[in-house]
Amino acid sequence: MNILVLGSGGREHTLAWKISQSFNCTEVFIAPGNAGTELIGENVDLQVNDFEGIANFSVENEIDLIVVGPEDPLVNGIRDYFEADESLKHIKMVGPGKAGARLEGSKDFSKSFMQKHSIPTAASKTFTTENIDEGLTYLESCDMPIVLKADGLAAGKGVVIAQNLEEAKETLKSMLIDKQFGEASSKVLIEQFLDGIELSVFVLTDGKDYIVLPEAKDYKRIGEGDTGLNTGGMGAVSPVKFADAAFMSKVEEQVIKPTVNGLKSEGIDYKGFIFIGLMNVSGDPYVIEYNVRMGDPETQVVIPRITSDVVDMLDAAATGQLHDYQLEIGSHTVAGVVLVSGGYPGSYEKGKSIHGLADITTTLVVHAGTKQEDYETLTNGGRVLTVLGRGDDLDTALKSAYSAVNSLSWEGMYYRKDIGKDILAARIV
Ligand code: AMP
Ligand code: GLY
Repeated sequence: MNILVLGSGGREHTLAWKISQSFNCTEVFIAPGNAGTELIGENVDLQVNDFEGIANFSVENEIDLIVVGPEDPLVNGIRDYFEADESLKHIKMVGPGKAGARLEGSKDFSKSFMQKHSIPTAASKTFTTENIDEGLTYLESCDMPIVLKADGLAAGKGVVIAQNLEEAKETLKSMLIDKQFGEASSKVLIEQFLDGIELSVFVLTDGKDYIVLPEAKDYKRIGEGDTGLNTGGMGAVSPVKFADAAFMSKVEEQVIKPTVNGLKSEGIDYKGFIFIGLMNVSGDPYVIEYNVRMGDPETQVVIPRITSDVVDMLDAAATGQLHDYQLEIGSHTVAGVVLVSGGYPGSYEKGKSIHGLADITTTLVVHAGTKQEDYETLTNGGRVLTVLGRGDDLDTALKSAYSAVNSLSWEGMYYRKDIGKDILAARIV
């Protein structure tokens, strides 16, 4: 099969890397890709929202299967675009249509979906400029901290946890009146704060059946000890000790089954990944958010744990054959440490030479914000690399990742030194 992966991050490099190892893969293309994907497949100079360009490329290169990495093209309807065209509809795709993508594209929609299908989630109310006064009064009755969420896509920045009433009111006003997140914050959810430990759960569904991929824990804050600004993710590990069989069975019964069945009952033919962001509150799962794609950096630690053929897996999801697919997961641990540009998640410089890549032969270095210029690999984004380590246990996996990190450098490089340490120290059990 000829396979096209859309995106340019660590998630897409990892997917393309695994896809390229399958006997069922003839050629893998990545659009637009990065310096790492260039080493395992062919980069295509197309942006993920250029549907016409992607369509033409796919026909010319006899693409059989498209795996959509990020949410943006899904929310914008790339599946609908392909399905509506006679010359494109034979091309298989992993990723939901516009209707399914609303699970991520609208937090108001996903909250109503959870409420309708009795999926445990934080209590919440939605406000607009029309009833902002009601919203401000409502805040006075809420316990603090309180969570305010822009309804639409806001590049992962649309969530504010306000510590006191004054901050909450200011945030509501700046989201609704000052349009802090543009159209995305024309509706705002005021949501109960959940106190617990986060877990990322990944489901792949073909609209009828589903499989549960390995779970992961992401480290979202820039600073050690989970301090400072939120980022796209500074590291991840899989498996996660507290996600034991008892907890995962609650997740399956209370969250996964009602989600897949809910989509079915609403007539949404969902073929793709569902990333469920959960909070474990005293042993019970609550959904924080749905994403209609895999996570980044979670993909980097989840996909290498799969030992069955991933092209078969993706093909089965795209064609409604998941009931026939036997997912196999290794018992090993994978840890990923994200290396970022100095200044990230604020402003940072690009174009720094990355040193030491060629010295790492024992583990996989996943690229994100990188580009190749002649013989040099340069930084080209905030999150630059994810260095992976694997081992029989978390300690070994982390040692392997950090030892490879020590070989790498560029001007301003930063990473967290405490990925997985909370789990090792059994502060999380
Ligand atoms: P989201 O964009 O919905 O994933 O939210 C970003 C981050 O905000 C999450 O990863 C959580 O760390 C935090 N968050 C979101 N909703 C809640 C909530 N109801 N209670 C506590 N933390 C939350
Ligand atoms: N790591 C969180 C995300 O991909 O949204």
